[in-house]
Amino acid sequence: MNFTRADFPDGFVFGAATAAYQIEGHSFGGAGSTHWDTFAATQGNVFKAQDGAIACDHYHKFEDDLDLLKDANMDAYRFSTSWARVLPEGRGQVNQEGLDFYDRLVDAILARGLKPFQTLYHWEMPSALADLGGWTNPDVGKWFGDFADVIMGRIGDRVEAVATLNEPWCVAFLSHYLGHHAPGQRDIRATARAMHHVNLAHGVAMERLRARGQKNCGIVLNFDYAQPADDSDSARAAADLQDGIFNRWFIEAITKGTYPEVVLKGFEGHMPKGWEDDMAVINQPIDWLGVNYYTRHLMSEDVSAVWPAVKSEDDPLPKTGMDWAIYPDGLKHFLTRLSKDYVGDTPLYVTENGMAWDDDVVDGEVPDPVRENFVNDHILAAKAAISEGANVKGFFYWSLLDNYEWAFGYDKRFGIVHVDYETQVRTPKASYHALATALRSNR
Ligand code: FCB
Repeated sequence: MNFTRADFPDGFVFGAATAAYQIEGHSFGGAGSTHWDTFAATQGNVFKAQDGAIACDHYHKFEDDLDLLKDANMDAYRFSTSWARVLPEGRGQVNQEGLDFYDRLVDAILARGLKPFQTLYHWEMPSALADLGGWTNPDVGKWFGDFADVIMGRIGDRVEAVATLNEPWCVAFLSHYLGHHAPGQRDIRATARAMHHVNLAHGVAMERLRARGQKNCGIVLNFDYAQPADDSDSARAAADLQDGIFNRWFIEAITKGTYPEVVLKGFEGHMPKGWEDDMAVINQPIDWLGVNYYTRHLMSEDVSAVWPAVKSEDDPLPKTGMDWAIYPDGLKHFLTRLSKDYVGDTPLYVTENGMAWDDDVVDGEVPDPVRENFVNDHILAAKAAISEGANVKGFFYWSLLDNYEWAFGYDKRFGIVHVDYETQVRTPKASYHALATALRSNR
């Protein structure tokens, strides 16, 4: 790696991220059914119909997994707390075993000198609430706020930071318009509702967190760099609309209390009644913003399609195992743009950045040179953004472990630690060792 801690401001945190359903093993400890369990059980949705029932068995192996983080000389751990593990029916009866698990987890993180960065929702909508329409139901914000109260009542005294939601674009657009994620809908009315309710749920949860006196509250958004595929006006308009749907819809609502006109036009007639009245709840100060960044897309107009009528063209750049173009400059673009146009000096954390590759264990080692370069180049992009004035306070690699990659099942490996799903043996990859060496220098 071409960086050391000395290249970053004092207190800059390096860490790795995971999410509950992707690693814990949702069949353990009394967790309730989620929309991912039923989505995966439906033919054609997920690679080999795999689900998160066992995943990385982190529920039983979390102490060892936290040792891996500590031994990599990291400072922080980003994890999520599953709604359906804490409230198996989404509301009402609390699963004490679930609360006990997160209590032990947070203590174990702290015992290793690591800072716990919690995410409240990383996609485990309880099935009982999915039955009521999940993110399309106007009451979802209140349900989510109640969940926030229950889990923070148990661990809120010890977490360093808390994010309401992970990647609202995936929660709403990817899952209700494109249908690639649970609940697998493809309906513009459901999309418009989910796109608004997910922001409202963030606002309601923020109110609840503030009322509890919770410190360091924010949200994690994902940003995808939409660039015009060519010089034409239509490609420029396509990139702008894509940027509106993917990026501005969320950050603009949260920081300015408005939605981009170009997107509202497409949702006309489908937005929930009285949505304007919710904007004040959505638009309230956040203490930090989490930025997830993976790739860019070269956009053009799709003349044969209905709104939004955009498509992405093939990208000449080298690609990851997800076929995502490798473009570290995009990370610098967002960190500087967010600080200039939206959040000012509010701390930014890169809460996810990473890549999948078809990694294999060879003689007890896992060489992953492409990932080593990828991590290095993105960390340097964050450093470049800091020199341009962005208040970036930390960087979390996605992910600590190979894990359940949603619709791709266990087929895509993002970890700096390889997981053998037959034996649950963990093998740190070369990128893990390279990061550990780079981070060894004084904190
Ligand atoms: C993000 C998700 C995370 C993981 C990575 C690869 O969109 O937040 O759970 O799937 O992508």
